[in-house]
Amino acid sequence: MKVLIAYASAKGSTAEVAARIGHGIAERDNQVTVLDVREVQSLGAFDAVILGSAVRAGAWLPEVTEFINRFRHELSEKPVWLWLSCIRVLEQHGEQHVREHYVDPGLLKHMNLKEMAVFAGRLSLSEVDWNERWTLAARYDGHTWPSGFDGDFRDWKTIDLWAASIAATLSEPTA
Ligand SMILES: Cc1cc2nc3c(=O)[nH]c(=O)nc-3n(C[C@H](O)[C@H](O)[C@H](O)COP(=O)(O)O)c2cc1C
Repeated sequence: MKVLIAYASAKGSTAEVAARIGHGIAERDNQVTVLDVREVQSLGAFDAVILGSAVRAGAWLPEVTEFINRFRHELSEKPVWLWLSCIRVLEQHGEQHVREHYVDPGLLKHMNLKEMAVFAGRLSLSEVDWNERWTLAARYDGHTWPSGFDGDFRDWKTIDLWAASIAATLSEPTA
C-alpha cells in the first residue's frame, strides 16, 4: 500500500512522530511518504493517509484545517487515521478533553476516519519565544500551569503500537 504521513508541526516534535510512524508502517511492506501538510500537492497516488498535528491554543494547527478543506473529496474516500500531539492529555481526563474540544467535528465528518489517537508531545520552553509564551499561558485550557510540562513526554512505545495496528489494518484484504 502507498501511505502518506502528513503532519503539521510548529517546533519539530510532531514531525519526528510522523517519521517514527512512517518507519513503523514501512516495516510492514508499505511504501511510505512523510510530508509537511503544506507540501502535499495531491493525494492521488496514496491508498491511505495518516494525518497528525501539534496543538496550539486549544486547536490543531491551521494548516491542518486548510489541508482537510483542500483534499476534502479524497479524504472522504481513502482511509484516514488522525493523531494529535499535545500536553493537555497529560492532565486528568485530558484525553477526553482533547477529543471533545481540540478537534472540529464538522471537519472530521468529511473524512473516512478510521481512528484518532492522542499522544503526549514535547514542550521545550527554552525554544518558546515571549509571544508564544503569552499564547501558551493565556490560551492553555488545562488545570495546571503549562510550564509544569516542560519536557519531552512522547511515549514511543505507544506510538509504535499505534503504527503497528494501522499497518495490520492495511494488510487486511478489505483495507
Ligand atoms: C505556544 C504554544 C501553545 C500551546 N498550546 C497548547 C494547548 O492549548 N493545549 C495543549 O495540549 N498543548 C499545547 N501546546 C503544547 C504542544 O501541543 C506540544 O508541545 C506539541 O508536542 C508541540 O509539537 P511540535 O513540536 O510539533 O510543535 C502548546 C505549545 C506551545 C509552544
